[in-house]
Amino acid sequence: MANTLFNDIVCEIRDFAATAKDFTSLQEFCVTTIAERLPLYDWVGFYMLDPSNENVLVLGPYRGAPTEHVRIPVTEGICGAAVAQGETVIVGDVLADPRYLACSLETRSEIVVPIRANGKILGEIDIDSHTLDVFGAEDRSFLESCAKALGQFLEK
Ligand code: SME
Repeated sequence: MANTLFNDIVCEIRDFAATAKDFTSLQEFCVTTIAERLPLYDWVGFYMLDPSNENVLVLGPYRGAPTEHVRIPVTEGICGAAVAQGETVIVGDVLADPRYLACSLETRSEIVVPIRANGKILGEIDIDSHTLDVFGAEDRSFLESCAKALGQFLEK
């Protein structure tokens, strides 16, 4: 990973995960660390699949504006698309994407990265930015490394 800040954050998340008491405290650490250190990441949060209905994503810890999208069917939104496609989804201009479910009127771009444990998607990291077309290959690599650390924690 070329970007030192991204690399530092991934190391901090891995270190925290080594002794985290539960998944929620690890999620809280991630959203706080990522939102505080990366000013272009205006909304940082988790959606996890509902264990009692795996067709629905449920909002978890987040930083940023409150959202009405507390439960999202996997057939809807950029969030649903990342689960349905089983891969990271980057949208450079959310207003041009018919799948987009609006959280904040200021949001312009979004990246959603699945979290897998034992090969199965259990949830995702969702990031919104007020800046158009802001997420690229380095953001993807950074967030996929974060998602991997989270997935490994869930495998324990
Ligand atoms: N924009 C997402 C919905 C979640 S909010 O951004 C927090 C989507 O289109 O699925």
